[in-house]
Amino acid sequence: MTIEDCKIVELPRFLDARGNLSFAEQQKHIPFEIKRTYWIYDVPGGEARGGHAFKENQEFIVALSGAFDVVVDDGVQKKTFLLNRSYFGLYVPVGLWRTMVNFSTNSFALEFGSEHYDKEDYIRNYEEFLKMKTNGEI
Ligand code: TYD
Repeated sequence: MTIEDCKIVELPRFLDARGNLSFAEQQKHIPFEIKRTYWIYDVPGGEARGGHAFKENQEFIVALSGAFDVVVDDGVQKKTFLLNRSYFGLYVPVGLWRTMVNFSTNSFALEFGSEHYDKEDYIRNYEEFLKMKTNGEI
């Protein structure tokens, strides 16, 4: 996988005087079956989250509130995706190093995963990530 395999997905929007509504369905807007959801909030200014890669877990990330950058790295190239609208999601396939930075005040990141939590699925060492990428292991 390379950064070219990441994609921004525009989610449906129902704009209404009563307030707006968006939604996402698995295998449709989110291109996998969802096994896990988690969210990140109350991030202090200047903090970074998620410096790691997954061997099996695919992800779909939405900025439900506020804004942040997702920096995706395939070992050769890096790309920064700004998420700042609740109707855009970022699909991140397996085997990419990704970090979330520049969280605005009160930002709220909702993440969907294709796998249950498994700490063995995480690659948290960047050198190890590069080695696995070079060897074609991920
Ligand atoms: P961590 O992976 O450090 O968060 P991030 O990648 O956003 O920087 O996760 C923080 C803690 O939460 C860590 O001890 C593992 C735990 N955790 C779970 O138990 N289940 C989960 O689904 C997630 C995402 C994390």
